[in-house]
Amino acid sequence: MRDEVARACADYGGSMCEDGGQADLVLATSDRLPDRLRVRGVPEDWQETGEEFLVARRDGVTVVAGGGPAGLLYGLFHVVRMGERAFGGDFPAQRHRPAMRRRMLDHWDNVAVHPVMGQVERGYAGGSLFWADGGPRGDLDRVRAYGRLLAAVGVNAVAVNNVNVHAAEARLLTDRLGDVADIADVLRPYGIKVHLSVTFAAPVVLGGLPTADPLDEDVRGWWARATERVYEAIPDFGGYLVKADSEGQPGPFAYGRSHADGADLLAGALAPYGGVVHWRAFVYDHRQDWRDRSTDRARAAFDHFAPLDGRFAENAILQVKHGPMDFQVREPVSPVIAAMPRTRLAVEVQVTQEYTGQQRHVCYLAPMWREVLGFEPSGGRPVSGVVAELAGVSNAGDDPYWTGHPLAQANLYAFGRLAWDPGLDPAGILDEWIDLTFPDVAGEVRAPLHAIMDDSWERYERYTAPLGVGWMVRPGHHYGPDVDGYEYTPWGTYHFADRDGVGVDRTRATGTGYTGQYPEPWSETYESPETCPDELLLFFHHVPYGHVLKSGKTVIQHIYDTHFAGAEEVAELLPVWEKLAGPVDPALHARVRDLLHEQLRSAREWRDQINTYFFRKSGVPDAHGRRIY
Ligand code: GCU
Repeated sequence: MRDEVARACADYGGSMCEDGGQADLVLATSDRLPDRLRVRGVPEDWQETGEEFLVARRDGVTVVAGGGPAGLLYGLFHVVRMGERAFGGDFPAQRHRPAMRRRMLDHWDNVAVHPVMGQVERGYAGGSLFWADGGPRGDLDRVRAYGRLLAAVGVNAVAVNNVNVHAAEARLLTDRLGDVADIADVLRPYGIKVHLSVTFAAPVVLGGLPTADPLDEDVRGWWARATERVYEAIPDFGGYLVKADSEGQPGPFAYGRSHADGADLLAGALAPYGGVVHWRAFVYDHRQDWRDRSTDRARAAFDHFAPLDGRFAENAILQVKHGPMDFQVREPVSPVIAAMPRTRLAVEVQVTQEYTGQQRHVCYLAPMWREVLGFEPSGGRPVSGVVAELAGVSNAGDDPYWTGHPLAQANLYAFGRLAWDPGLDPAGILDEWIDLTFPDVAGEVRAPLHAIMDDSWERYERYTAPLGVGWMVRPGHHYGPDVDGYEYTPWGTYHFADRDGVGVDRTRATGTGYTGQYPEPWSETYESPETCPDELLLFFHHVPYGHVLKSGKTVIQHIYDTHFAGAEEVAELLPVWEKLAGPVDPALHARVRDLLHEQLRSAREWRDQINTYFFRKSGVPDAHGRRIY
């Protein structure tokens, strides 16, 4: 904290004094605040977790009182966000506390370069901040800078390795623990705890035991000892993150045990030290037969986990992807969130843009996350009130701009801000980011950046997979269009387009029954194409191309219109960005310009493949006679 203030003084002027004498800004944990600066009218016990802070200005002094060191740091960054407003007229005490107790970034970083997935799985921002070529990257200064960046947006937990735990990564838990401890040491001053992805098979692959059965005494003993050693090295270690029985990762099913048995095994090992296990609900059959219409991947998480509600230990957190499939540009909110009132839940979003343009397209995701967090699954409580935590798959790497696409930084920023306060307005968050990122030219760049970014998620949706059907991406790397790329694969990701219609029938009446996983009113709303929101129509229903949407357009005309419009809008972004050649740093400007050209090329490819595909399937011409191939 002191270092942060010293640094701010060095960069922007001013000096530090210890006694608060003539200072414009006083920062102190609430127990050390001088009496004359005490903030009145606030309950004594307001600083529950140490992350809260109060900020007020009285008699020309701005006071930040932190519940603890972390709160103080968050308070300082809040003052930075306020800018001059923090030092204008007096204002009464404002209390700030995070809505989500844990605000966590999961790095899908591999220690050893994976032959297919590379150094960072689904990473579009260069290499890993932590690892390179089989060992630690060795640049702890960059890790320190990252910690500072994350503290500035309120992130307080980081998982340092991929949920797919390969051979080298497995050993972070044992003989490579020192590398994790080094990262923890650097992130600790920023209020960030380190978590580790572990393999459920660790007792076998690391411990040489014949089994990893969660009910086996030797297995329990192995985890207890391994965890004890972790806490010896890292006393404030956060806990484990586990992807089990999912896409080839080992898990409790191999022993005929449930996922509650699996999670509780690790929760038990962590409990004596106050650690937690994040257990992912992303469990489905990735070897299904595309001919089999009775299996629906969207159902899987609920079918596996809802019956286990109430069986998870107190320090086990079930981490649920925000939608039932896999981070598509549009999905309904996962029904698991409403189904497990007796389980601690974290909702997981994908900050890295695997399915939303891979940091080559501008896609500001705050509006999507805001929608997810504000959705009321049942009984008037929004998702943000049901879940305890927000987890995001990180989009940061060793790229000089941190995120590959410089404008993708706004997603990292917005992730932290929404986890802190899910009620924030995405456009307002963007304004904060603009002010902090372009402090000298914010006035000039604000309107153009809003024009480019505010609507970029829905724009991306317009030129990619339509009406919630998802996928249609190139298999493997997932960039660019390939309408049937996943249609006859084992992955459970189908659109079922034929000459008459398109979409997945997930109704109770005639389909997979997935709509029945929602409580009222959603089970009814989604069941009928008449009440289902247009943007999710093809997620829930198989309809003829002539089906008329609420917008008054047929499905086929909607597909043509949105694809022509989406690609056209991307073309219009280029001249907007060109106007920023003056105010914005030339290298940054050139990077974004190149990326916008790629986005335009790609958007046109999407437009033409999707339109051509559906024209050839349906035989229905575009009402406006535009060029389709
Ligand atoms: C997606 C992604 C994988 C990742 C998986 C997960 O399927 O393509 O790379 O491992 O999600 O969330 O575990």
